[in-house]
Amino acid sequence: MSDDEKERTVELHYEGGTLTLPVFTGTEGERTIELKTLLGSTGMTTLDPGFGNTASCSSKITYIDGAAGILRYRGYPIQDLAVGSSFLEVAYLVIYGELPEPGQLKEFSDKLRENADIPDDMGTFIDAMPRNGHPMSLVASAVNTLAAYYDDSVDPDDENQVELATIRLMAKLPTIAARIYRNSIGEQPIAPDPSLDYVENFTRMTFGDARPDGELGELFGKAVDLLLILHADHELNCSTATVRVVGSSQADIFASIASGVNALSGPSHGGANQAVLEMLDEIRDSGVSIEDFLERVKNREVRLMGFGHRVYKNFDPRSKEIKGLATQILDRDDNPDELFELALKLEAAALADSYFTERKLYPNVDFYTGVIYRAMGFPTNMFTVLFALGRLPGWIAHYREQLHDPAFRIARPRQHYIGANERRYPGQG
Ligand code: MLT
Repeated sequence: MSDDEKERTVELHYEGGTLTLPVFTGTEGERTIELKTLLGSTGMTTLDPGFGNTASCSSKITYIDGAAGILRYRGYPIQDLAVGSSFLEVAYLVIYGELPEPGQLKEFSDKLRENADIPDDMGTFIDAMPRNGHPMSLVASAVNTLAAYYDDSVDPDDENQVELATIRLMAKLPTIAARIYRNSIGEQPIAPDPSLDYVENFTRMTFGDARPDGELGELFGKAVDLLLILHADHELNCSTATVRVVGSSQADIFASIASGVNALSGPSHGGANQAVLEMLDEIRDSGVSIEDFLERVKNREVRLMGFGHRVYKNFDPRSKEIKGLATQILDRDDNPDELFELALKLEAAALADSYFTERKLYPNVDFYTGVIYRAMGFPTNMFTVLFALGRLPGWIAHYREQLHDPAFRIARPRQHYIGANERRYPGQG
């Protein structure tokens, strides 16, 4: 075997012999061992709880280098996209693979404006759901029913239908989310206004005349746009992996994305932004000092929410951008935000403590988002819905990419069985 071939293969020595497995190198030099022949050749599976070492697909959408704190969508660093692009441009990039030309962006945006309405009976259905239910559960249910209201766009094998469903999802999710919010505060829904851009329309449908105008309104609009950009995709996180798994059964895109919303709702995933705010509230209300709180974290009595990440072993690059945004919005000499000050102190104390740095526990995307959303007037239980609005292009892009993947198969992991051996059924001889 030549050195070159050795580079591109690994050998697995096991009791029954030696298996040579191919090694693929990704565009950023990352290497992955293909295990397709493992079970057939050796009778063995691999055990990888939580898929920490498993690449379940090849993808061209997002690149993360967790050690270096790098995140790129379709090759573009998120820092550049954050400065140079709007959320709609980024959504287009993530879904279709390239930044849009001005004409393409206008066409995309026009289609979203035209499709932002939901059918009247869908509105009635949303209004009939429990108004004090968690909005993530209501959003997931509403997204699921889109398949029933729009059954002309549920066939994964028809590209035109998938495209139509893409537009409908992007266009209608803000309308659905805003209606669910207004129901929760006992206010009438506000219909989408086709003269407004995507984010403006969402904040108007949410807050109506109560949204700030002038300089503050503009700053809030830009902040929501930036937060959506920073959440647009994150490769095979739990909710995106869920969208792919559900979609791999040829389930329609609405069903697959409703499953993604459900996966995102958990406090170990998107629900963490809500959990961070609740933690900060509790520290403030209980009067515990930050030092004592961190001691309790070390004793495993409480969890430090918004710190640490499965992939980033250093700063989450999104958290730096979000901290900058929070500073812009909340660090006002005239009116300092109490929870932001507390978050800053908590971050500084944790980063000065080797317990946290040795364990690579740095602030993640969720740490500062909540304080910004709260300052804008969003209630805590809407934070994860905002994450879902941002993540939607990523879910759509992964669903679509999978449909064209030549290696596409229904997701069907194996298990390592550790249960009882065959047993005699009671009463049998
Ligand atoms: C995300 O953006 O989905 C979260 O950071 C979680 C993850 O990537 O695992």
